[in-house]
Amino acid sequence: SVLAAGLAATLLTGCQQSNQLITFGDMSSSYNREVFWMSVWAIALSIIIFVGVSWALFYTVAKFREDRHDAPPAQFHGNNRLEVILVAVPVVIVVLLSVLTVRSMARLNPTPTNAAKIDVLAKQFWWNFSYPAATAEAGGTVSNGNEMIMPTNARVALSITSGDVVHGFWAPNIGGQRHALPSVIKTWNVDTERPGVYQGNCTQLCGASHANMRYKVIALEPARFDAFLSAARAYRAPTPAEGSAEARGYTLFMQGKTATGALACAACHRVQGTPAAGAAGPDLSFFGTRRTLGAGMWEGDKAREMLPEWIKHSPKVKPGSLMPTYDGSEYLVDGKVQRGGRLTDEEIGDITAYLRSLKLPEEADYWRGTP
Ligand code: CUA
Repeated sequence: SVLAAGLAATLLTGCQQSNQLITFGDMSSSYNREVFWMSVWAIALSIIIFVGVSWALFYTVAKFREDRHDAPPAQFHGNNRLEVILVAVPVVIVVLLSVLTVRSMARLNPTPTNAAKIDVLAKQFWWNFSYPAATAEAGGTVSNGNEMIMPTNARVALSITSGDVVHGFWAPNIGGQRHALPSVIKTWNVDTERPGVYQGNCTQLCGASHANMRYKVIALEPARFDAFLSAARAYRAPTPAEGSAEARGYTLFMQGKTATGALACAACHRVQGTPAAGAAGPDLSFFGTRRTLGAGMWEGDKAREMLPEWIKHSPKVKPGSLMPTYDGSEYLVDGKVQRGGRLTDEEIGDITAYLRSLKLPEEADYWRGTP
């Protein structure tokens, strides 16, 4: 019971990771509420059993101590009533727990037809979240790297898969954990009643940057979520003014221009409304709206500061990153030495400027109003 008390304290208090919540027993999620009450039942029954067995043990030891008896106690064999009780009590407990479990599963598992749907793709070492019901006017499906936007007060049906090894989807505030397995789609329902920003982590050791495989869940009130989704549907990446840094960045992004002929950004990344349709890396359509960089490695100002470093040599700042280097340095892919491309600092600055211009309209900025 000391263990149970400690566990309960941990579950209920949670902890703050930067300024966003990561709480293991967030009661805003119906999954967490079900699990909490199941645990209360299981712990309560365990305490009853513990007390009963302890009492029987001490009673027997005390009552039948040898020095209290001159003769051996009465010897008997078999006691039908006692045996029936000893079988019936555990059966009742197991049946009770099974009924409660099945009831919780029946409440949590069915996906309502009007649920918001999000496809989750896990890869070494980042996430992509796409909205299968939201087809972009510019073509393709609305999607976003490393920042998952979901509505509050609604079940959100996730379809979780992996593009390489086994990963784990886990954002405790919205409920539960699911493996992301290659060539398997796992479905999972999450929900929360409270708008906010929640931390998500990969929970399966998946390589050098497992610990750097994080994401944010941004839960918006349904009206704001709908505004986000419809703006995201209509979104076309802005066309940079001719002669601007953004325009030079756009050209580099789409065509690449490295002495060694390294891949252009567009070969691996998608930007909605442009020819960039790569799927080997996270979707960058709303990169300017995003606050995190490197799958949650940096946030806010630090993320802005790190962006040029990231483009220059992402495997140096994030171990195991599969993005090529653009400062000519060597990096490893599957144990093989690769030499990246080469971009000047000015060119990296231009690409940075272009990426920061990829912003959703103000009313769809899902970070607005968050800490
Ligand atoms: Cu992906 Cu750990």
